[in-house]
Amino acid sequence: MQSAALEAVRYSGGVLEYLDQRLLPQQERMVRARTVDEIETAIKTLAVRGAPAIGVFGAYGVALLRDALTSDNEFNAAAQRVRNARPTAVNLAWAVDRVLASHDMVAEAETIHREQQTIDLRMAEAALELFPMNARIITHCNTGPIATAGGGSALGAIIAADRAGKRVSVYVNETRPLLQGARLTIYELHRAGIEATLMVDSAAAIAMQRQKIDLIILGADRIARNGDTANKIGTYGLAILAAHHGIPFYVAAPRSTFDFHMNSGAGIPIEERHATEVREFAGAASAGEKTPVYNPAFDVTPGHLITAIVTEYGIVRPPYGESIPALADRPNAGVLL
Ligand code: MRU
Repeated sequence: MQSAALEAVRYSGGVLEYLDQRLLPQQERMVRARTVDEIETAIKTLAVRGAPAIGVFGAYGVALLRDALTSDNEFNAAAQRVRNARPTAVNLAWAVDRVLASHDMVAEAETIHREQQTIDLRMAEAALELFPMNARIITHCNTGPIATAGGGSALGAIIAADRAGKRVSVYVNETRPLLQGARLTIYELHRAGIEATLMVDSAAAIAMQRQKIDLIILGADRIARNGDTANKIGTYGLAILAAHHGIPFYVAAPRSTFDFHMNSGAGIPIEERHATEVREFAGAASAGEKTPVYNPAFDVTPGHLITAIVTEYGIVRPPYGESIPALADRPNAGVLL
């Protein structure tokens, strides 16, 4: 059974709404965001999440605030709050800066949103050759339509490969601690009618050893010039496991996720989130309330562990020190529209 894609962000007639992803898979509820507090909170609490989707939402948010706030000082402070709501995914700052530099902020936000839909289609087309028939895949976190406000990056490519007749089967890491895999990826795959199996994150090693996995494909929040890639915590471990088992490890990400000013992953800011996300499970205590916790939301996978990166401009391969800077010289996605 296939259902219509979920809409992560909607803007129409001056009304900005987002799908509250915290409520999935139980409820599909659109919520309106009017103020800087509401916009910032939606991003910080992961009601809107996924690197490209927070970029699209932040872009609309800033455009909306420009109309709502008459004082320039107040507007500039509000725009910075939105821009800095989450530090790791470069798409948010990139999209807000694009809107701030434009003459018609609403039109620019709409362009960023439309571009994302085209970009996702292009990524899916480019990725098709990476999937063998009956591909058995591991993915991590959530990179579907709700994570990009388009068709999805890695998960969009998986869905498109299945539509193209490749008959894929996907092992989905639950993605501790916020369970984006269990709550969102399984939901999107089942909505798309694709065979999907949930596993705990620590089952990835034995899955690679015993389940005939053909490839790993997942998304990114920021990619440095040398291919070092920040993505959801657990990605780095998966890349090491994939290298050990000789399984190709692919990242799918739009050009807006590349940080061409960053030479390596060492400088990528890693968001650390609240201890309660780890000390509690489904609202109930799972560790003592004073237990010290280390809760990085992302890790950085060294570029040498990444087989290839799928972009809207095609597949980028090592040596990344040459192929990624070459991507910087490509025109922005507007030309794809
Ligand atoms: O903390 P999240 O859920 O926003 O983290 C999201 C990820 O790590 C995704 O893999 C990444 O943003 C790519 S989304 C197409």
